[in-house]
Amino acid sequence: MSRSIAVGIVGATGLVGETFIQLLEKSEYNFTELRLFASEKSKGRSINFRDQSFACQVLENGCFKGLDVVFFSSGDDISKEWAPKAVEDGAIAIDNSAAYRMNPTTPLVVPEINFHHIASATTPQIIANPNCSTIQLVMALEALKEFGIEEVRVASYQSVSGAGKEGIEDLVNQSQQVLRGENLQPGKTFILPIAFDCQPKIGSFNDEGFCSEEIKIMQETKKILDLPGLKISAFTVRVPTMNAHGEACWVTLNRDVDRATIEKALQACDFISYLPHNSEKSFHSYREVQGETNAFVSRLRKDPGFENTWMMWVVADNLQRGAAANGLLIAQRIFDKLS
Ligand SMILES: NC(=O)c1ccc[n+]([C@@H]2O[C@H](COP(=O)([O-])OP(=O)(O)OC[C@H]3O[C@@H](n4cnc5c(N)ncnc54)[C@H](OP(=O)(O)O)[C@@H]3O)[C@@H](O)[C@H]2O)c1
Repeated sequence: MSRSIAVGIVGATGLVGETFIQLLEKSEYNFTELRLFASEKSKGRSINFRDQSFACQVLENGCFKGLDVVFFSSGDDISKEWAPKAVEDGAIAIDNSAAYRMNPTTPLVVPEINFHHIASATTPQIIANPNCSTIQLVMALEALKEFGIEEVRVASYQSVSGAGKEGIEDLVNQSQQVLRGENLQPGKTFILPIAFDCQPKIGSFNDEGFCSEEIKIMQETKKILDLPGLKISAFTVRVPTMNAHGEACWVTLNRDVDRATIEKALQACDFISYLPHNSEKSFHSYREVQGETNAFVSRLRKDPGFENTWMMWVVADNLQRGAAANGLLIAQRIFDKLS
């Protein structure tokens, strides 16, 4: 007999949390309970879901009791402290933060690729959602994995929504300042004003000069694809676009494969939308992928300078596939087992 599901969202008022709410609202599932959590400043704020109104709560001990699944989207510190408490309360915590991703015992999951990393899907546990730019990269790489991937180089061009609501506010406010001819004011999120500019820094720098986003892509890709020895190098750049991330990728295979075979492999993946080169507009823009769950691959070509190396452009909606939709796809497989 099917049963309804009780769900919590931590960070319900943020960009990722709001995307979760929209996706759950449209989903086929019945929810016996929806518990929404945010910070003290949002306490009591009401949020509509399927013609009902839900008041935001703050986190407190025991607040997850009775929930089957809790989506965490409030940052690393909140997840570190509260995701284990959700598990103690009997829930499965699907965590969008970086807090547990590289923990050896925590599955880091893109469901179409490695759902099997979750040993027992209905057991209370933490399941980590990968970094947004990692997710779209591994989706494209998964299609080519059968040809033996030796090296990956990726340069990302990441929208401000990747930095949350304040990232969007900064871009909007600073763009208006530029267009009104005013002096640019510092924002809350980026080290320099982001309007009409690019910044090769996402997250914090380590001593070697890598930023944390680059480290995440390099480490997480190996874990998800089960390729611990993969040579991978990432360079991440924040660009003044609102939503979606683009990645220029160089993928070196361990053998010579022809274009038709690679295209066939990309076309065979139902989680990839592939656009072959056949016109002046043979590429995907950020606007075109809004609200989509697939990774969009185009501009495939063989690199003339490096043996067995293929170049491509990979774009995806970071709030959907890069965060909430990936989390919900994990949850759906769990819901189906719970129902
Ligand atoms: N944005 C993306 O593309 C993306 C992609 C993948 C993963 N992620 C990860 O997802 C998480 C959320 O990102 P976001 O972009 O949605 O950020 P955001 O728009 O800044 O939202 C942050 C959320 O956290 C809540 N929060 C803050 N302090 C809290 C507290 N003490 N207790 C409970 N909730 C609290 C905020 O509530 P208030 O509104 O009350 O302050 C808000 O709902 C981050 O870990 C981020 O790294 C984001």
